[in-house]
Amino acid sequence: MRLFYPRGSDHEVTRLVRSDAAAVATLHREDFARPWTTTEFDELLRQNTVFGFAARVIGQPKAPLAGFVLARLAADEAEVLTIAVARAARRLGLGRALMEALLRRLHALRAETLFLEVDETNDPAVHLYRRLGFVEVARRPGYYGGGSEGKSDALVMRLDLGKAPVSR
Ligand SMILES: CC(C)(COP(=O)(O)OP(=O)(O)OC[C@H]1O[C@@H](n2cnc3c(N)ncnc32)[C@H](O)[C@@H]1OP(=O)(O)O)[C@@H](O)C(=O)NCCC(=O)NCCS
Repeated sequence: MRLFYPRGSDHEVTRLVRSDAAAVATLHREDFARPWTTTEFDELLRQNTVFGFAARVIGQPKAPLAGFVLARLAADEAEVLTIAVARAARRLGLGRALMEALLRRLHALRAETLFLEVDETNDPAVHLYRRLGFVEVARRPGYYGGGSEGKSDALVMRLDLGKAPVSR
């Protein structure tokens, strides 16, 4: 089912389904030092507490995914497991559109809070989350890295869904 069109683009945001697992793993591999496999994504998508959204080029269901977000909801507390937008599709509003689709779904499910962890040096992601109203609630010193680029802290961020700036 099509949910809505992100602003100024030719993409649509739809629910992630298990048959997307391979495409999601491909996109995840582009950006994360420890990529998750197709099997891992498939197993996550089989769980009834896990769900997500995909951004796709309209009318091209077989084209590579432009982006996705995956989350878990347990009781009234949710967490973003991972989110990525393909490099060629960044800064088109897709990251925000994926997060807003997630927030709408969480509102519908009566979730109260949404948590995530992000590398403090990941400016695009930190900017996106702050714009959505997330606030830093904890910090894990030296959680990321350790190679030639050194270590960086993980920020634990929380969004109170009662205050999230999306229409319900
Ligand atoms: C983080 C990510 C998902 C953002 O996706 P995106 O589609 O490019 O984001 P959007 O176009 O929706 O932009 C959202 C906001 O972030 C800002 N932003 C995006 N890229 C930015 C950058 N490189 N520098 C500064 N701000 C940036 C946008 O300007 C926008 O802010 P605005 O609403 O004030 O204009 C994308 O950069 C990505 O996939 N990164 C690699 C994977 C990753 O780091 N995931 C997060 C792990 S916690």
